[in-house]
Amino acid sequence: MFATSERREGAIPPVLYLSAEVAPLSKVGGLGDVAGSLPAALAALGVPMVIITPWYQGIEERVPLARLPIELSVPLEGRVERFLVGRAWLPSGVTVFALANDRLFGQPVIYDEPRDRERFFAFSRAAAEFARLFPPGIVHANDWHTALALVWLHRWFDDRRDGPRHALVLTIHNLAHQGITDIGYARRLGFEAEELLFEEWQRYPGTINVLARGIHVADAITTVSPTYAEEIQTPEFGEGLDGLLRYRREALWGIRNGIDVELYDPATDPVLPARYNAEHLEGKVHCKRALQAELGLVEDPTALLAGVVSRLDRQKGLDLLLEVIDEVIARGVQIALLGAGDPELGRAFQALADRSPGQVSVRLGFDPVLARRIYAGADVVLLPSRFEPCGLGQLIGLRYGAVPVVRRTGGLADTVQEWAGGQGNGFLFDAPTPAALLEAMERALAVYGRPHEWRLLVRAAMQSEVSWEGPAQQYLELYRSVASARSSMLAPAQR
Ligand code: GLC
Repeated sequence: MFATSERREGAIPPVLYLSAEVAPLSKVGGLGDVAGSLPAALAALGVPMVIITPWYQGIEERVPLARLPIELSVPLEGRVERFLVGRAWLPSGVTVFALANDRLFGQPVIYDEPRDRERFFAFSRAAAEFARLFPPGIVHANDWHTALALVWLHRWFDDRRDGPRHALVLTIHNLAHQGITDIGYARRLGFEAEELLFEEWQRYPGTINVLARGIHVADAITTVSPTYAEEIQTPEFGEGLDGLLRYRREALWGIRNGIDVELYDPATDPVLPARYNAEHLEGKVHCKRALQAELGLVEDPTALLAGVVSRLDRQKGLDLLLEVIDEVIARGVQIALLGAGDPELGRAFQALADRSPGQVSVRLGFDPVLARRIYAGADVVLLPSRFEPCGLGQLIGLRYGAVPVVRRTGGLADTVQEWAGGQGNGFLFDAPTPAALLEAMERALAVYGRPHEWRLLVRAAMQSEVSWEGPAQQYLELYRSVASARSSMLAPAQR
């Protein structure tokens, strides 16, 4: 089944893409969207992509999964965990291998703190064992959840020091989560503590750091926008790993995310009450009215409707919005918020909705269909993030003609340009303060007050480049470079 195919000169070997989330099977945030769409874009360029992900209970209801006669045994904390393997195909045709273990992943949840360390460390080991069944190619891990797979593979190459090996790629979607745990745990995972220890590079002495180790052993590291790739090399954004990232800067790539522009297309999206495109915006007017009705907002076509579709998390800067929200709504702005996460933020927004009926609507939870109706009905989308590796909300907003009002950071800075002199596609602010956010809103309101100009802006937003086309070419180039570097050496580079 895994026989090496004839390899053309310069062809990309198989890429095993490891992710904790893969939409539409499993999704909590942007990682799921990326893992569900980037491999398809690469497959369309001829890259043999294979996704490896946990088999969370219930995903077999979303896609037919066939059990394979493969069992993986991995040692964990003195026990042996067995993983079974199922195979499925995404709607895009990309193959997915789902690794099943009832004890660890037999619940219908993706993340399950505080068990995640054990769950994902075991999964990563199983994924590394599985990767050994494939001919040498590229193993591409995402975030701390799967970074340990690279560390295992690297160690096994080190042990053998000969023969072909997989090239190792790690993508950082969010540096705030690193898989940090106590040193004692290293031994229970089967490592000597020093193998995972990183005194030199990190801020918590006496801990192991799985993401840091992954960054250390990877042949290439990517993050999800060019600006974030620069930012994480500074103490302000480096989350304690800026020194390590500076050390590996030659191997660090910043490639912005894209979105699936077929799925996210206001001209065809079946969940919208009306469809539209950049030339014919009447459908968007209809979507706005329908959204106002659906959410119990006053059905006023002239009120600027601001959508917020977000995880409720300090990263996203929604506390900044809370601080100025009274001033924002005093200017007649309507707010439609959909999000899940921090219960305290959720309660604060809910209280606000209760005291501003008709003007503020808050839905706490996860609802991908309502999310698209918000993007279609909203005039602007707000992303006041403190940091933002890429951000997908502004990309979807652009696609649906909801003009982004964003903080100039990470991927937001790379994808949104200030509207001025008929150029640009949104509004930006620099300081992470309520006042700066309010000022950007004022600029948006001023243009909104000039309907002809606003239409030009909406059109420009909708014509912004948000697809995977360009980024997938960059990943292709990256895969080519690591594959050719790998085939020109037998043992891993000594660092
Ligand atoms: C994380 C980041 C977000 C990024 C997404 C996908 O959720 O916070 O900025 O867009 O990963 O890469």
